[in-house]
Formats: sequence, C-alpha cells, structure tokens
Amino acid sequence: MAVVRVGFIGAGSMANAVHYPSVVETPQTQLVAICDLNEERLNKTADRYGVPKEHRYTDYRRMLEREELDAVYVIMPPMGLAPIVLDCLKAGKHVFIEKPPGCNSDEAWAMAEEAERQKVKTCVGFNRRYAAVYRYAKSEVLKRGAISLALAEFHKDMLGQGPYYGMSILRTDIIHAVDILRDLLGEPVEVAAHVWSRYERWENSHNQFAALIRFDSGAVGILTASRTAGSRYERFEVHGKGISAYIRAPEQAEIHRQGEGVEIVTDEQLTGTTDRRITYGYLEETRHFISCILNDETPLTNFTDAARTMDLVERIERFATG
Ligand SMILES: NC(=O)c1ccc[n+]([C@@H]2O[C@H](COP(=O)([O-])OP(=O)(O)OC[C@H]3O[C@@H](n4cnc5c(N)ncnc54)[C@H](O)[C@@H]3O)[C@@H](O)[C@H]2O)c1
Repeated sequence: MAVVRVGFIGAGSMANAVHYPSVVETPQTQLVAICDLNEERLNKTADRYGVPKEHRYTDYRRMLEREELDAVYVIMPPMGLAPIVLDCLKAGKHVFIEKPPGCNSDEAWAMAEEAERQKVKTCVGFNRRYAAVYRYAKSEVLKRGAISLALAEFHKDMLGQGPYYGMSILRTDIIHAVDILRDLLGEPVEVAAHVWSRYERWENSHNQFAALIRFDSGAVGILTASRTAGSRYERFEVHGKGISAYIRAPEQAEIHRQGEGVEIVTDEQLTGTTDRRITYGYLEETRHFISCILNDETPLTNFTDAARTMDLVERIERFATG
C-alpha cells in the first residue's frame, strides 16, 4: 500500500482542531471522504480540505459502502461510538478513535476483540504518550534502569460545570493520567483508591480521585485528580535509578540526575514550535498510526491496550463512596 486512504466520521471541534490537519500533513496519507450528521459542519470541513461534494456523507454506512477506504477516523463523543466503530472494523478498516474508547470496558473490549478478529490496526488518541517532552523524559529515565515510582496528577477548574457528557470524569478525561501510569509502569496488580465528591454533587460522576496502584513491574503509581481545582494543571513525576523527571506536558520537563544537577527541556527545543497540536502529541499519534498501517506494526495505543486502561479506570471507580 503506497498511500493510506482515510475517511472521517465526525467533523466536530476535536477533529478539526487536531485530526484533519494532522492527517493531511502526514506523508503517504490521503483524505478522501467525510461524514457528519450535521451538514453545516460537514460542508465547512470538506470545503476547508477540498473534499469534493460526491465524497461527503451524512450516513457513514453509505460512505463505507461507496468509498475505497483503508482507514477511518471516528472522532465523536463516546455515546454511540462503539456500534459505528464495530461497523468500520467489520468492513475491514483500520480505525482511529479519540479517548475514551467507548462508554465502558464492555464496549472497549468489544471493539478490541473485533479488531483482533479482523487483523486491522487501531489507535486511541491517548496523545500524552506521544508528547515530545514526555517521550524524551521517559526515555532518559529508562536509560538508567526501570522506573520505581510514578505520579500522575490531572486537575481542572470545573466547579459549577458538571462532568463531560454526563459521564464519569475519570472515564472521559482523567483516563489520560491513568493511561500514563500504565504506559510507565505496566499492568496493575493491586489497587487502593478513594473516589469521592466535595463542594458539589455531579450527576454520574464524583469530582475527587486518589489512587495508589502496585504494578506487575514492581513499581508503584499514584494518581491524584481534583475537578474543583483552581486551574487546569497536569503533571507527571517519574523516578528511576539515580534519576527523576518532573513533566509538565506539553510545555517542559525537568530531568534531575544524581550528582549532575538539573536539565530543563522544553517543547520548543524538541519540536521547534509551541503549537500544541505538535507538542502535545496529536500529530505524532497520527504519524505513528499511519506508519503502523504501512509497516504492518501494532500501534502503541491500540484498542486492546486502551481496553486495559479502561479496566483500570473501572477498578478505581469501584472505590467510590457516597
Ligand atoms: N485527546 C484529547 O485531549 C481530547 C480533547 C477533547 C476532546 N477529546 C475527545 O474527542 C471526542 C470528540 O469530541 P468533540 O468535542 O470534537 O465532539 P463534537 O461534538 O464537537 O464533534 C462530534 C461530531 O460527530 C458528529 N457525529 C455524531 N454522531 C455521528 C454519526 N452517527 N455520524 C456522523 N457524525 C456524527 C457530530 O455531528 C459532531 O459534529 C470526544 O470523545 C472527546 O472525549 C479528546
């Protein structure tokens, strides 16, 4: 396959902000068709990327029937996502989705198992894993040995707002931080957590999360997330053998090496830009997905891997009180 022919289902905000531009910038990739239920968004996006009228759809089934696509980006909210993704997989397409991978682990595993049956490539947009400062810091720590301890904190100022999509905020958003702990430390063996509400009650979600997780690598991970915080604040700590990294993705990482002082590395040094689409891993996740299709390799954040992250999210949620 010399070129990966891509179709999109979804022409909403996230797709337009990061996925369309990243797909059209990726070599050996061609955007050929777009589908959205909303004709205004469909036409605005298709006009922007020069997709002809005959390749615009409001029914994704017609797009799958008529177009010769290799891969489909399904970029829409988790509700109603799984049946559409299953149809794409059954049609033999490689599939990219945003997080969360469905509404729950049953949906995540249904998509993962179908993808395994169809032997197609899949990718979930856990973009933090592809962020330049994160990848640099992680690889520097691993050069000296295994990671012993990691912390992932992800806070937001959401007082008075309620959770996204009326669903658990751990599933829809804090899942990024849970996924980072798995990426750094392996598979969870033992989970202790406290999940509770403070200051206001949200429908279908708590707003404070703390977890202590022992992983099969022998390392321990700590998760903290408050959604009644003073601002959005995301930070990862990674401790290894005589080395620690303190990461504020996507902006910068501090690397502390025993006896050697502190190295500060910024997104701009590593990527030549401060454009978050590039520094926060969105362009890189698409490049990785397309490269895996072309080279018959398994994407890092494939559906099976993402279903394991969803399993850990649900294990933490079981500690909810009140
Ligand atoms: N990785 C990140 O950092 C990050 C950040 C923000 C959002 N997201 C995720 O991105 C996803 C999309 O969020 P968004 O804000 O772009 O949503 P959105 O509502 O702006 O866009 C979704 C689009 O999908 C279309 N759509 C829905 N059902 C459809 C169907 N059956 N057929 C065709 N089109 C359909 C809608 O009309 C809409 O245009 C969410 O899952 C969200 O969690 C990820």
